[in-house]
Amino acid sequence: MNVLGIESSCDECAAAVVEDGIWVRSNVVATQIPFHAVYKGVVPEIASRKHTEWIYAVVQEALSQAGLEPPDLDGLAVTAQPGLLGSLLVGLSFAKAFAWAKNIPFIAVDHMLAHLYASQLVDPSVTVRAAPVAYPFLGLLVSGGHSIICRVDDFDSLTVLGTTIDDAVGEAFDKVSNHYGFGYPGGAVIDKLAQTGDPLAFSFPLPKLYKGEHRYDLSYSGLKTAVINQLEQFRQKPASQIRAEDIAASFQKTAVDILLRSLFRAVEDTGLTTTVAGGGVAANSYLRRLLGERQDLRCIFPSPELCGDNGAMIAGLGYRYLIRGERSPLTALACARVKAFKRSYP
Ligand code: KG4
Ligand code: ZN
Repeated sequence: MNVLGIESSCDECAAAVVEDGIWVRSNVVATQIPFHAVYKGVVPEIASRKHTEWIYAVVQEALSQAGLEPPDLDGLAVTAQPGLLGSLLVGLSFAKAFAWAKNIPFIAVDHMLAHLYASQLVDPSVTVRAAPVAYPFLGLLVSGGHSIICRVDDFDSLTVLGTTIDDAVGEAFDKVSNHYGFGYPGGAVIDKLAQTGDPLAFSFPLPKLYKGEHRYDLSYSGLKTAVINQLEQFRQKPASQIRAEDIAASFQKTAVDILLRSLFRAVEDTGLTTTVAGGGVAANSYLRRLLGERQDLRCIFPSPELCGDNGAMIAGLGYRYLIRGERSPLTALACARVKAFKRSYP
């Protein structure tokens, strides 16, 4: 069963074809990064305009790389929430029109559930597949807009245990990188710089969040402020003593420590020893290494190219709803934020 997935919730205009919810037949991601880089952040108006310009070609390319025509499709899945409203509406409206015109079963899905699904996707060239993940497990959703530690009971059932009370982790990478002029977007740049830096060169404080309902919560605004304010302090040193690599490595270490401290608390309290990660920050090599070193946990990551926004995760998740006989109406709405997001997502 071939499902086309369309993703346009932020700054990636993406489409992919996934067979049977597993095999990635094509995965086209047209990134808008160069258009937003000059503003050091995603400009919503530019994002939706670029999606409008590109979406037709991106979908055509995904079908062509998969060697399929529209009549070969058994389903069409699209992101409906959460994200930038204008951007979401481009993908959603395109998908509705396409599904209606070609009479293809249509399903609108949630972007964060799709990030969690990404680790189940496999390149068709892979002959041996890891055993599917058994529910329940802990989810670690880390991106530019979200930082969520959750309990996952099924592909469509997730309970938020902890979330950020201010900035998202990816946002902190981006803001620190912007401030220091390392580059945009900051996550991949800091990850690379950090590889030759000393993570203990500078020490930054961890947030004091562990009581009551904050037990698994995260906070990044304090870290961001500390790193940025300490810049002034670094500048008082001779330039030769300030290595961008050390700042990157020290910041990255603290950012990941904040995540893992809450995650490990959740592991202890719930007894769940499998963690599935997703979202752009799940590509972070330091995070992957630290979690990989925990012999007592099974930590599953999507392949690095499927951590960021892509259409394959949308198609894979969509397949699961479609085989259950579910369809979305062509009146389905886009939603920028998920209601009651903080504690009862979705
Ligand atoms: O999931 P994603 O592509 O888009 C959102 O839904 O937000 O995540 C983008 C975020 C950005 O903040 C980017 O800086 C971060 O993921 N990111 C990384 C890495 N690659 C991307 N953060 C840390 N390390 C990386 N290697
Ligand atoms: Zn995302």
